[in-house]
Amino acid sequence: KAPAGVSVDPLRIVGKELKFLTKNIRKLLGSGHPMLDKVAKYYTWSEGKHVRPLLVLLMSQATAIAPRSSHLSAPSPSSQSNISEPISSPLVLADANPDTSPLTAPAAELEGIFGEDPNILPAQRRLAEITELIHTASLLHDDVIDNAITRRSSSSANTQFGNKMAVLAGDFLLGRASVALARLRNPEVIELLATVIANLVEGEFMQLKNTASDEASPVFTDDTITYYLQKTYLKTASLISKSCRATALLGNSTPEIVEAAYSYGRNLGLAFQLVDDMLDYTVNSAEFGKPAGADLELGLATAPLLFAWKENPELGALVGRKFEQKGDVERARELVARSNGIEKTRALAQEYADKAAAAIQIFPDSEAKNGLLDMCEKTMKRRK
Ligand code: FPP
Ligand code: MG
Ligand code: MG
Repeated sequence: KAPAGVSVDPLRIVGKELKFLTKNIRKLLGSGHPMLDKVAKYYTWSEGKHVRPLLVLLMSQATAIAPRSSHLSAPSPSSQSNISEPISSPLVLADANPDTSPLTAPAAELEGIFGEDPNILPAQRRLAEITELIHTASLLHDDVIDNAITRRSSSSANTQFGNKMAVLAGDFLLGRASVALARLRNPEVIELLATVIANLVEGEFMQLKNTASDEASPVFTDDTITYYLQKTYLKTASLISKSCRATALLGNSTPEIVEAAYSYGRNLGLAFQLVDDMLDYTVNSAEFGKPAGADLELGLATAPLLFAWKENPELGALVGRKFEQKGDVERARELVARSNGIEKTRALAQEYADKAAAAIQIFPDSEAKNGLLDMCEKTMKRRK
């Protein structure tokens, strides 16, 4: 827990850094094709929470004063990288090949990469941008898969531009994220974030085959929760945990610190998605900024329903047919409301949030560490 009386608002700690983030991301997404340029940048104009980059920036600061690896190596790869070169092609339909990029970037290009806090390395700032790019790419694809009408309180990209453009824009974001990642010149970090992209797809696939079995009327077992948590790790916690690990690696932290950063991200990521799955049942769409109550409509059995199913085997048949029969969604909602599924979901999320906080207790005390601890509390209190 953060010491009482210490102001730990994470947004205050890295607020200035975050201001550069969206501007920089738009630069990374420049395309000479005006329509692609527009669709690719579309979600950067709405108010995202920026949870992932916020965590990367706080983790950068918190690990900057933690023990660093002492091996007498050459300067870290990130210090030799050319991350400050522009990789976007806003004016011409050129590729992002460094050979065709200007060798000297105008001052404005460097803004935000070389921010104000000396405790955040340029490579770590760029990593923060990459996490948001990968996340936004997954949202573009997710909204097509989920047929979502709204996102961040506005029309979703698929509603606005159609499925084909939304999918291609997502692919474009992944391409630009990959170029930026390669330019960090750190193979371990590249491997981590490339694995995340694969994990996102694996998680989404596990979700489409939601109950690990194709039985007409599956029975609740311990495997049911294990499968759900594995899926949740892949679709949400993988990006958060591996980017926290990558942040510590870029900062040349000791293996112990790197592990702690990963464990923090893994547990916070699981808590984050459990809360998201709970809010789908407990808040309305206006507050959520995206369709609420959507999971059952999509045939998805998330934690609140799984805990209700454990108490009430009747739900097995509904899970088996993905709540497709008339009245299924209403019946399932009623059974969840009558069960303790919501409280159990909240309690499980709290367990993970507590584990995340415990994981970074080995970090030296700092404002950034308090910010990371506050993120655990904010995750539990959030309504959107
Ligand atoms: C939101 O979940 C979606 C995700 C966390 C990941 C979705 C992943 C894919 C679509 C795989 C393809 C992605 C890439 C980058 C290749 P949700 O639908 O439960 O949440 P929501 O309520 O915010 O829509
Ligand atoms: Mg969705
Ligand atoms: Mg989805």
